[in-house]
Amino acid sequence: MAVLTSTITVDPAYVIGEIDPRMRGSFVEHLGRCVYTGIYEPGHTTADGDGFRFDVRDLTRDLGVSIVRYPGGNFVSGYRWEDGVGPREERPTKLDLAFQSIETNAVGIGEFMAWTRTVGAEAMMAVNLGTRGVEEAAALVEYCNHPGGGYWSDLRHRHGRADPYGIGVWCLGNELDGPWQIGRKPAREYGILAAAAGAAMRRVDPSIQLVACGSSGRRMATYAAWEAEVLEHTYEVVDYISVHAYHGPRGDTRADYVDFMAAGADMDAMITQVIGTSDYVGAKLKSRKRLNLSFDEWNVRHTHGTWRQGHEPWTVAPPLIEDTHSVTDAVVVGSMLNSLLRHADRVTMSCFAQLVNIHAPIRTAAGGPAWRQASYYPMQAVFAHSQGQSIRLAVESPPMTTQSYGDVDQVDAAATRDEDGSLTVFVVNRSLDDAVLSDVVVRAMGQPHVTEHVLLHDDDPDATNTHDHPDRVRPRHLDPPGLDGGRLQVMLPPRSWQMIRIVDDAGRRNA
Ligand code: AHR
Repeated sequence: MAVLTSTITVDPAYVIGEIDPRMRGSFVEHLGRCVYTGIYEPGHTTADGDGFRFDVRDLTRDLGVSIVRYPGGNFVSGYRWEDGVGPREERPTKLDLAFQSIETNAVGIGEFMAWTRTVGAEAMMAVNLGTRGVEEAAALVEYCNHPGGGYWSDLRHRHGRADPYGIGVWCLGNELDGPWQIGRKPAREYGILAAAAGAAMRRVDPSIQLVACGSSGRRMATYAAWEAEVLEHTYEVVDYISVHAYHGPRGDTRADYVDFMAAGADMDAMITQVIGTSDYVGAKLKSRKRLNLSFDEWNVRHTHGTWRQGHEPWTVAPPLIEDTHSVTDAVVVGSMLNSLLRHADRVTMSCFAQLVNIHAPIRTAAGGPAWRQASYYPMQAVFAHSQGQSIRLAVESPPMTTQSYGDVDQVDAAATRDEDGSLTVFVVNRSLDDAVLSDVVVRAMGQPHVTEHVLLHDDDPDATNTHDHPDRVRPRHLDPPGLDGGRLQVMLPPRSWQMIRIVDDAGRRNA
């Protein structure tokens, strides 16, 4: 193993932007075991009076999730929200065509909103623009957000909920560019529908913020052209354009794994390109408005495509896409988080997908325990220290040559400055083999001192947490390195993620 060198320079004066609290988002979809036996399992030993699992609730709270997208995903494109409200015994059981599963509708809007309160998060609601349209979307906004006096808001009253839910963010459909999507549409058709639905929804509640669907991935044939055409129709109506990205090794070769380690570089490129496309449309329309990005699906995913069709027999909550995240996957997650932080000025909302069981940081056994996957840890640390600004870094790194992205930095880093003035530097060594001895130079801090140094790394790159060994992979607290003249040194093992927390002792004394 070679040991290379790098330098990371951090100066808290170089601010990228304020980190929006909505960057700490997640996603709960009626898919597989995310809802049923994920967040909700009446009869489970930890279930509360509403049937929600306390163990999952506690893990969600500890993760620090601020906003949760619901109810899909592909599921929403065939969903009738009316099926999931009102007395449970009157709710219909339906075939969910998106995942060829049985949907009991035991959980719907009311239950989900009650659950979001227990985890301290806000909801991001998606409307069905696959099989439905303007009228149903506006009716849903009325049901959720209007005080009363109309049919749908009065129905909410009859369902026992007088106060409006006040849901602030609404997704105009999901991945309608995807051949797998129920009611898939060409960009022009989707753009016209999304603009009309969004305008009607705003008539019901002018305070809502709207997200138009961007491409389902950077590899889509219509990528960028889709965003440009959709935004031609929706630019003045919406506040965000969505971005989705999943990464896993695309094959078994070494080059596939090197590409996988560079997933954050792909995210960087995608974010830059979608910003460029959106700003181009804004310029063309001579608009004074600037849209932000909602990166509302992202994560490591190993299962490709096969989960989309053909599950026989049709069952409730089949175990779909229950990817296990190894320590290497967690390192890649850390580098995806770094990419989001580096773009905090324009990516102002993001949701890792999904919260429980579906390529998720939390796993459950039906009737059994819940545990943290390795990917839980970098998410938790970044969310805990994304309470202020994102700070621009200067990184001098050895290059890493990839087959898909050219040369990328082997050392990938991001930094934040919390409201209390503390700095946090997140560092990933993307190399499969080489360690890096890295200098971290801290500028413009009177008496910087490291309070915490955490490492996520394992000699076995495939190490995972499981039902039987839920704590096999955990971050380790190292002895905080000393600072000499504003410079510290850290060793970055290959395939590792680290967090270094720095406070200014001089600032503290003067405070
Ligand atoms: O997360 C699973 C699926 O992936 C979501 O339903 C869809 O939006 C995406 O393609």
